[in-house]
Amino acid sequence: MTDRIDTVRVQLGARSYDVRIGAGLLARAGAEIAPLLRRKRVAIVTDETVAGLHLPALQDGLAAAGITASALALPPGEATKGWPEFTRTVEWLLAEKVERRDVVVALGGGVIGDLAGFAAAVLRRGVRFVQIPTTLLAQVDSSVGGKTGINSTHGKNLIGAFHQPALVLADIGALGTLARRDFLAGYGEVVKYGLLGDAGFFDWLEVEGPKLSSTPALAQAAVRRSVEMKAGIVARDETEEGERALLNLGHTFGHALEAATGYSDRLLHGEGVAIGCALAFELSMRLGLCSQEVPSRVRAHLRAMGMKVDLRDIPGDLPGAEGLLGLMAQDKKVQDGRLRFILARGIGEAFVADQVDTGVVRTLLEDALRG
Ligand code: GLY
Repeated sequence: MTDRIDTVRVQLGARSYDVRIGAGLLARAGAEIAPLLRRKRVAIVTDETVAGLHLPALQDGLAAAGITASALALPPGEATKGWPEFTRTVEWLLAEKVERRDVVVALGGGVIGDLAGFAAAVLRRGVRFVQIPTTLLAQVDSSVGGKTGINSTHGKNLIGAFHQPALVLADIGALGTLARRDFLAGYGEVVKYGLLGDAGFFDWLEVEGPKLSSTPALAQAAVRRSVEMKAGIVARDETEEGERALLNLGHTFGHALEAATGYSDRLLHGEGVAIGCALAFELSMRLGLCSQEVPSRVRAHLRAMGMKVDLRDIPGDLPGAEGLLGLMAQDKKVQDGRLRFILARGIGEAFVADQVDTGVVRTLLEDALRG
């Protein structure tokens, strides 16, 4: 295992921060976090599964720098990301007497990072927080960029705030504890970066992708490149007025499929993104933006990785094309009632399209549902 730590700076003026990437960062978390602290204590928010795997290592790492830590372990899973556990977290942080100048630590995947980040955003009108993402998806996407929040009965991530972390520690060693399915779901977000803006990275993933889960140095390189791309986009468009929307490649289709499967185990978010990317490239081809080889190459790589690619890879029944279109229309990416897609002129050449012909999307979905 490599000991090299990479640093990617997210440039946001006074709110700039480092994303540190490498093996062993949990063990050295105390030294990493200490410069942020006014007093040597932090409050950790995590989930029960991650607590069993990584909390002792984090607490030992903090203790090595003389930092004491209390911890709240929430139930694992997407259902945690709602008002009841959010309220519980905020009240716990207040009971722990977390003050304006203290730091909250989010240890876990996207659910914990989003919920704890939002709790930090509203606690005493905003306290700083550190993201310690333990899943591939959280390391390459949700821990970076400051989107925090919880789900509503009306939809995912509809309640939240932009609140940038003060530091992100992505310990590559934590990826070794991920189930294969969770690793591949995170990989859906990795491949997205190549597809949206870096054809050379996609070329590299075609060769090295299958080795990532067993080769920490390659996983580190993939996380670093993904975070570099996200950091650049966030620095240029923090609040998604323009370019940041490119990060939603595959998400209009993916969110509809997640909604259609009840946000359940039938389809993980990253799996929906991967299928959504394949559909977005197919749509781009049908709209005459790129040649047939482009979506074929995307699909071939996802298949080679052992990922879900087609609608028939999702277990159970799906609604028809009209039902899926209806779910897309509810997505929060909809503007003025128009469907918004991220399309591409080729691999690494994505752009935002607001005026996509619904008829072409409907036919594409009908064909995809027929398999
Ligand atoms: N996950 C998309 C974004 O951070 O903008």
